[in-house]
Amino acid sequence: MIGIIGGSGLYEIEGVVVTEKKKISTPFGVPSDSYIVGKFAGRNIIFLARHGLKHAIPPHKINYKANLWGLKQLGVRRVISVGAAGGISPGMRPGTIVVLDQIIDMTAGRDSTYYEGDEEVIHVDFTGPYCPELRKSVIAAGKKSDIKLLKKGTYICTNGPRLETKAEIRFFSGIGADVVGMTAMPEASLAREAEMCYAGIAVVTNYAAGMTRKRLTAREVVEVMHKTGKRISALLKETINLIPSERRCACRETLREAKI
Ligand code: HPA
Repeated sequence: MIGIIGGSGLYEIEGVVVTEKKKISTPFGVPSDSYIVGKFAGRNIIFLARHGLKHAIPPHKINYKANLWGLKQLGVRRVISVGAAGGISPGMRPGTIVVLDQIIDMTAGRDSTYYEGDEEVIHVDFTGPYCPELRKSVIAAGKKSDIKLLKKGTYICTNGPRLETKAEIRFFSGIGADVVGMTAMPEASLAREAEMCYAGIAVVTNYAAGMTRKRLTAREVVEVMHKTGKRISALLKETINLIPSERRCACRETLREAKI
């Protein structure tokens, strides 16, 4: 089963035939919204709106643990996450699609692990935060369906909900960030702890703070995401087509080498 998490402005995916909506709770609380179960490109998928379908949950209040646990509970083993981001490095123009390969975590105070140390001490390997096999499928899908995308990029995750200062973006640029967003963490590391494959697609919705003279607005984020929606749906469809039926990556046995 393949899970898709949609961010700001991506509340449904064109071409998904919805069969059921599942409202569930988890040992970690209630997920952002009902899970939308359906068929896409001939395979079973489950969609979740990260901020809720009415976009009522800000990034720092999302129950990431419940969201990921719920997906796993429903049988998902691979997660494709789509999120809006601000462009920092050259070429990261609004409308650019990036298949992320690295993360810098600047969040604080988020509930970010399934292993609090009550029973076991666990340190998962996170050298490559995104699943190489799943990334490969997204990149191949871009090529096959002629959708332009960047094959790598480093995502810096801020706590939000405020946008960044010009100096922060200058600093982020200096430490190697290509795009900035507020939701990849702890989503990516929780997926790893839950031994699910996880790929991240960033849609650049705006130039990051201070990169242009323009003030940033939340509206442009949603507008650009809407405009990119068709391309993202087509990319997801082809990706799902290309995902191998069996997982051969290390994600599925993360915990084997993570226990003290
Ligand atoms: N900063 C942080 N998060 C974002 C941005 C941004 O500029 N654009 C979309 N999500």
